[in-house]
Amino acid sequence: MDEKGFYITTAIDYVNAEPHIGHAYEKILADGIARYQRLKGRKVRYTTGTDEHGQKVAEAAERRGVPPKQHVDEVVERFRTAWKMLEVSHDDFIRTTETRHERSVTELFRRIDANGDLFRGTYKGWYCKYEENFWPESKLLPGKLCPECGRSVDEVEEENLFFRLSRYTEPLLKHFRENPDFIIPGTRQPEMLNILEEGLEDLSVSRTTLSWGIPVPGHEGHVLYVWFEALTNYISSAGFPDESGETFRTYWPADVHVIGKDIAKFHTIIWPAMLMSAGLSLPRHVHIHGFVLTPEGKMSKSRGNVLEPADLAARYGADALRYGLLREIPSGQDGAFSEEILANRYTSDLANDLGNLLHRVVSMMARYFGGTIPSPSSSDSSRPEEDEELIALALRTVEEAGEAYDRYAFNQSLEAIWRLVRAANRYVEITSPWKLEGERREVVMHNLAEALRIISVLVSPVLPRAATGIRAQLGYGAPMRWDELSSWSTVLAGKTVEKGQPLFPRLET
Ligand code: MSP
Repeated sequence: MDEKGFYITTAIDYVNAEPHIGHAYEKILADGIARYQRLKGRKVRYTTGTDEHGQKVAEAAERRGVPPKQHVDEVVERFRTAWKMLEVSHDDFIRTTETRHERSVTELFRRIDANGDLFRGTYKGWYCKYEENFWPESKLLPGKLCPECGRSVDEVEEENLFFRLSRYTEPLLKHFRENPDFIIPGTRQPEMLNILEEGLEDLSVSRTTLSWGIPVPGHEGHVLYVWFEALTNYISSAGFPDESGETFRTYWPADVHVIGKDIAKFHTIIWPAMLMSAGLSLPRHVHIHGFVLTPEGKMSKSRGNVLEPADLAARYGADALRYGLLREIPSGQDGAFSEEILANRYTSDLANDLGNLLHRVVSMMARYFGGTIPSPSSSDSSRPEEDEELIALALRTVEEAGEAYDRYAFNQSLEAIWRLVRAANRYVEITSPWKLEGERREVVMHNLAEALRIISVLVSPVLPRAATGIRAQLGYGAPMRWDELSSWSTVLAGKTVEKGQPLFPRLET
């Protein structure tokens, strides 16, 4: 078989409302991982999309007085536009109202049925339409509220089809034991293990009180439970049921599903059980991220602290929003974010540290060398201490940032990279090229350009525009690759810098 491609997915968003900053964080996080894997030379497929069926979406359409399909067709455009503005580089955008998805869901359902895992029964209990989740009475909060989101639940009694989820308790426990890195970060695993150790109950997978969904084959009046079909999007995008097709063979199983902590059970328990039942392989990892909160806690319209990702990207630039979110939200945990936090990061880290470094280096190159990057002529053995330190730090940063990117810990890679950016600025102060002359000035200026080349590659998963901007100003057009970071090189010698627009213009106050 050909080389296994790297397949990464995000949760698919409900289209009952506008894209918000939490959705944006997840898409940017997955985008950073996808871009990092492409830099490493992997063939990558990055899938995101929208979850368009279910009660909540049907009710949102009804409130607007439009047919559900018209409603979703309109809202989905806002998601597409937002991700474009944020430079999200997905390879596929899947909508659960597409025919390819319905085909894939129908076949998965057939296989699960053929395996004896579906039966008819009566569901009597509670349903949270906001989370699209069934709850037994014993789990409800006082006042009959959803234990997940705290909103009111509806009492339902329906003749449904059930999936024998209980059969998979043991196989899942075994899978967890044999694959301790199935859930990343590992700190999220105990909660899921607890659920398994309590024993799983069978799961209702069809609804009869709703028509906005995929019809259950052979069961008139039933549509599939929205989660059952939504999870299937991950194989629909990979070409299922065409298992012998190139896409499926190259990309399935997924390398990582990137999702939020509120939907961990669906991805680490229910989805794997469905795949086991259908005889398909399981995703290698599920990366569970935390929530973007505001400094005052949860975002809400009534508090007036809802952040619109497309609006922030239009005002601060896609790179800045990407950097702000990935730098501020600690990997796997909740973190606070606000426009003020973004503006501070913009000014200190992007405009002052990185933007300024590039500006100084390119200006001095023009002033002292007519724009041509000099060749370093002194031999390695006679390097002054400050040069040794900068070079060693650059090479160490490549290791550290790479190791953190491998763990999806973007806040840590960015911290490491910014230690290098700041060190390069300090190197300008220490060496003071304006006081130097001759060969020493050439070496110092070459070192600064070289540090910027390394920085351009390191930041590129998060700051794609700035990364290309840095290289354009250094007069270096070679495509970015992680393996160009293996050494402190002289590839820039002789290149002509090109002064461009500031990477991060000062904010107007
Ligand atoms: N449609 C389901 C997912 C189906 S996946 C087969 C859903 N949609 S959602 O729109 O409610 O959420 C989409 C993703 O955004 C989820 O991973 C969720 O955890 C994430 N987030 C929603 N709010 C969030 C924050 N405030 N912060 C970070 N991520 C959050 O669930």
